[in-house]
Amino acid sequence: MGDKILVLDAGTTSTRAMVFSREGRMESVAQAELTQHYPKPGWVEHDAAEIWDKTLACMREAVGEGASQIAAIGITNQRETVVAWDRGTGEPLARAIVWQDRRTAGFCAELKDVGHEAEVQKRTGLLLDPYFSGTKMRWMLDNDDAVAAAAQEGTLAFGTVESWLVFKLSGGTHVSDASNASRTLLLALDGAQFDEGLCELFGVPLAALPEVVDTHGQLANCSSDWLGRDIPVCGLVGDQQSATIGQGCLSFGETKATYGTGAFVLTNRGGDIPHSDNRLLGTVLHQSGGQRTYAVEGACFVAGSLVQYLRDQLGLIESARETEDLARSIEDSGEVVIVPALAGLGAPHWKPDARGVISGLSFASGKAQIARAALEAMAHQTHDLASAFAADGAPWASLKIDGGMSANDWMAQDLANILDLEVERPDFVETTALGAAICASVGAGLYTTLEEAASAMRGPARSFTPAMSEDVRKDRLARYARALSVA
Ligand code: G3P
Repeated sequence: MGDKILVLDAGTTSTRAMVFSREGRMESVAQAELTQHYPKPGWVEHDAAEIWDKTLACMREAVGEGASQIAAIGITNQRETVVAWDRGTGEPLARAIVWQDRRTAGFCAELKDVGHEAEVQKRTGLLLDPYFSGTKMRWMLDNDDAVAAAAQEGTLAFGTVESWLVFKLSGGTHVSDASNASRTLLLALDGAQFDEGLCELFGVPLAALPEVVDTHGQLANCSSDWLGRDIPVCGLVGDQQSATIGQGCLSFGETKATYGTGAFVLTNRGGDIPHSDNRLLGTVLHQSGGQRTYAVEGACFVAGSLVQYLRDQLGLIESARETEDLARSIEDSGEVVIVPALAGLGAPHWKPDARGVISGLSFASGKAQIARAALEAMAHQTHDLASAFAADGAPWASLKIDGGMSANDWMAQDLANILDLEVERPDFVETTALGAAICASVGAGLYTTLEEAASAMRGPARSFTPAMSEDVRKDRLARYARALSVA
């Protein structure tokens, strides 16, 4: 048997497969974009069959003739997105509802109005926001005839994306790992399996849900139908928890921020169940032998997707990379401020109905000012999170950043400046995939602990040191606060 790890990284905008060496070197990669369906304002859907077909094609391409070298598979994924399928046919029953989708805002508000939020937060670490899976499942049951009929007949299977991929890879194993399960509103942070009382509250049948398993270990089997031989699945982990592991944030207090489609900050909080008084989330970071390590999370829904919006919807830029040169071409944004609330506001504000703002426009505002304001928005919203973490008694001593957008040096420096904090970025920014490789290599027994695997598989990093005067910082944050108040 070989000692390489195949990672499937099923993200929001694309799905990828990568082969990693035991030392953490990425040896091959294949990628396919996913179609985004926006049937109504605030609604976002994916085709689960497309996710599976493209993931399978990518894994075959990345592995090529090398299947005999693969020791294990690790899967990491966009979290919260709900897939509904029929256990008998193995086919999706409806479009998947994506984490960004806001259609259940009304149901969340109803539950909040009758006073359920405090109890839900205490038990699950989450808040009553349409972001999480539970209300999306309920919506499907209430509004999709095929989903309702399958529930009646007892053939309905619900799962997040890792659960869907394992079902397809294995030919019928229905599991979800604890890090993904902790994003559904249906798992109590101290409960081993999905919770009957929470399922009742959200109106989701327990029988349709997967078994909750560890994030690393012998978790499932990928059938020989796909790569010509059976390969164990040894890592399953939500993408943000995976990036935290890939950044080596394995000790209490260590913090990472990933700038992908959205921006997600997680701080390792060890074995004690976290609680936030400042509207941050408590979540499972990883689990082995049923033992959990937890994290506190701040989730902002829009990061790289803002730059994508400037490119694809507004046609202001041709490529994301252009934003760095545009930002450097001017001294400041000329008072232009962007509040990236295009999918509502996540932590710490939680306003599903908030919408994006571009303020401070004058005739001097060209595309350079707008592009720079878009990058500046990343530091501003991260600063909001930093304040909430500090108010919760968990200030950041430094910040490790990653994700596609973090490759932008100007943005990385601006983050250090606005946060007034040392920011560290690994040379290899694909830490989400690396985290799943770390989990799978421990699950497969190539290393004994996550710490050992992380120190063997992680590469060098570069630091960005704050260099901004207090006046400029204050001025920027005050302008942002004003724009935020009208979002
Ligand atoms: O919670 C949503 C998150 O998992 C999506 O991550 O990488 O697609 O921004 P990403």
